[in-house]
Amino acid sequence: MTKINININQSNIFEFKTDALVIGIFEKTEKFEGLVSKLDNVFQNKISNLYSENEINGKIGEVTIIHNFVDFSAERLIVVGLGKREEFDSDVVRKVSALVLNRLSGINLKQISISMLGSSLIGVFNSAKSITEGAILGLYRFEKYKSKPMGVSIKEVNLIGFSIENEAQVKDAVSQGEIIAEAVNLSRDLSNEPSNKMTPSILAGISTNIAGKEDLDIEVFDEKDISGFGMGAFIGVSSGSVEKPKFIVLKYFGKDKKTSPLCFIGKGITFDSGGISLKPALNMGDMKGDMAGGASVISAIQAIAKLKIKINLVVIVPATENMPGSSAQKPGDVVTTMNGISIEIDNTDAEGRLVLADAVSYARTIGVSNIIDVATLTGAIRIALGTNYAGIFGNNDELIKNIIDSGKLVGEKIWKLPVDHAYDHQYKSQVADFKNTGGRDAGSITGAQFIGEFVGEIPWAHLDIAAVSRTSSNKYYHRIGATGFAVRTLIEFAQSFAIE
Ligand code: BES
Ligand code: MN
Ligand code: ZN
Repeated sequence: MTKINININQSNIFEFKTDALVIGIFEKTEKFEGLVSKLDNVFQNKISNLYSENEINGKIGEVTIIHNFVDFSAERLIVVGLGKREEFDSDVVRKVSALVLNRLSGINLKQISISMLGSSLIGVFNSAKSITEGAILGLYRFEKYKSKPMGVSIKEVNLIGFSIENEAQVKDAVSQGEIIAEAVNLSRDLSNEPSNKMTPSILAGISTNIAGKEDLDIEVFDEKDISGFGMGAFIGVSSGSVEKPKFIVLKYFGKDKKTSPLCFIGKGITFDSGGISLKPALNMGDMKGDMAGGASVISAIQAIAKLKIKINLVVIVPATENMPGSSAQKPGDVVTTMNGISIEIDNTDAEGRLVLADAVSYARTIGVSNIIDVATLTGAIRIALGTNYAGIFGNNDELIKNIIDSGKLVGEKIWKLPVDHAYDHQYKSQVADFKNTGGRDAGSITGAQFIGEFVGEIPWAHLDIAAVSRTSSNKYYHRIGATGFAVRTLIEFAQSFAIE
């Protein structure tokens, strides 16, 4: 994919030659100020006339193209709606930047300039960072298997219209925005890859490359190691597959090595057929994305290393397929986890919690300070929250709140759901310590609590991203397929954790 160049351009907006200059306008604007008012003058009151005629009303996502009919440096003036002032935040900038660039790519423009949208409300830094993210996320395409990719026409995006004393800030904002958006796109790439091109071994290989580039420690444990650890639950899930499981551990030290690290764990099922409890055929292909949690934590650590955030972090991804081969585990089987807990396999399709049980047990052995696991764990989370919010669960309200707040800052919506011993009986087994299902009632809660059984006293939060990890429509910065959900939240959380 061609890389989009984001340039910062300290030249005069009224002299800079460009295919299109993008400016923002709020809904119900009483009077035009600043840049909009100056451009309105240059364009002989065109903007204010269109506004009073209701052709422009500033609604979020509205794009009006005014061709240059005066002697102006930009070929076109693009007026984009920013919505209501009271509802405005960084995510609006991210969204409208993505939207407007996709529209302009649709008419084949190449070199675009964007003014610092909404900087009077959110500041120059946040505006520049969000435009950068919106541009890189919005112009993302996954077309590597097409012999004739459509691509995007836009090659160059110029941030323009800030004062000289803000130049350093804008530069910093753009480089941070690039690192973050490229991490989200990496996560999307990994999850969009079909499962025959994204096996556990390939995912481990990509992790090894990232570790090399970013100077991370890496260990990739193979089947023998995994058995040796006593990870019976993880091995059980992998046993029906010809593809070998890999247990991936990445370590980043941004602080002295004695500080116990944060730990992100990502579910890494590279294909979830359901196993012997086979899934129905409809949309089963989407289960190539059942490693989205793993993709997100790998991408997050890449960005955290590039940003040199002052934390220590361990990322763990138990990676395997869940297949119904003749050596597959079967309903009724009993497996034992690394920490000696027995589990009756009630349904082989509840495999995420099994691999996570062993990953969490492993994390405990290396002494981590907090655990955040990210998983496409349950279909039930979509029944509970739909596709707008991810669910969060855990044993520590402060940790949960900090993650939710980080999500808010970066435009990823997360809602807390309860855990309660009143649900425990649902996943008690007649023959083992637990069974791996908890019935239809509160399916996401029992799934979360099952993982929680292996956490012990460590502060822990579990993000169920099953309903938000993929999207079926192109909207704002989302493109059909993987969303990269949780990458931005995890990076933001790491940044706030470093400040504490
Ligand atoms: N990977 C699925 C959950 C999922 C469903 C992710 C839809 C994305 C979209 C998970 O492994 C699974 O199959 N969960 C079962 C659990 C059940 C058998 C207790 C489910 O949700 O049906
Ligand atoms: Mn499953
Ligand atoms: Zn799964």
